Amino acid sequence: MKPDFNAMKKFARQRMSQDRSGHSFDHVQRVVNTTCKLLQQTPQADPLITKSAAYLHDTIDDKLVNDPAKAQQDLINKLKQWYYSTGQINKIMLIITHMSFSDNLQHHYHLPVEGQLVQDADRLDAIGAIGIARAFCFGGHVGEKMYDPKLKPRIHMTKAKERNYTQGTTINHFYEKLLKIKDDLNTAAAKQLAQGRQEVMIRFLREFKNEWNGKE
Ligand code: ADP
Ligand code: NI
Repeated sequence: MKPDFNAMKKFARQRMSQDRSGHSFDHVQRVVNTTCKLLQQTPQADPLITKSAAYLHDTIDDKLVNDPAKAQQDLINKLKQWYYSTGQINKIMLIITHMSFSDNLQHHYHLPVEGQLVQDADRLDAIGAIGIARAFCFGGHVGEKMYDPKLKPRIHMTKAKERNYTQGTTINHFYEKLLKIKDDLNTAAAKQLAQGRQEVMIRFLREFKNEWNGKE
């Protein structure tokens, strides 16, 4: 039997539809689209593994599910029911359990090429105009301040779930994480896409501070 790609997509859509913290299905859809773009320039990557990992990459995230270990086992069982082979399941699970960027900035785990594409697409969705919008959505969601000139960016960032949002601001999140993403991408194609997005963020930060200080 061929893997049931549509059943997998439907599950990802259902699982993501409840989220309001920047991981909604429109994020997943953009990650899938960008992954497909990167896939065109990466003939050595397996398209089924890559696209499945793109759809599923946030479904077991500890920000979305209470019990990630159980969510992982449930997903493995589902993939079996959808006729994915053991080899395919192992690879997809390896990718999606290791690719969170907060996790990877600390461990630098070497992902298979399929995972590198999905990780690049996921990181690209955190920068540029969409990245700006997502950051402020997330900031609002956790009750973080938009900006406070007295709070300086923190150098050593901990995992998202361990963070204390009262000590951070969304503007600082750009200096702590988002402006660094362009140097942490795997593929040349993604690096190229990141250039324009970087400029958008830099221009935004300049304008934001000008308006904040009444210096327009
Ligand atoms: P991932 O789950 O892919 O490792 P995160 O959960 O850290 O990534 O980030 C998801 C989205 O939320 C991204 O767009 C990111 O920029 C944003 N985000 C994460 N932490 C913060 C924060 N402290 N302030 C504002 N935005 C944040
Ligand atoms: Ni994601």
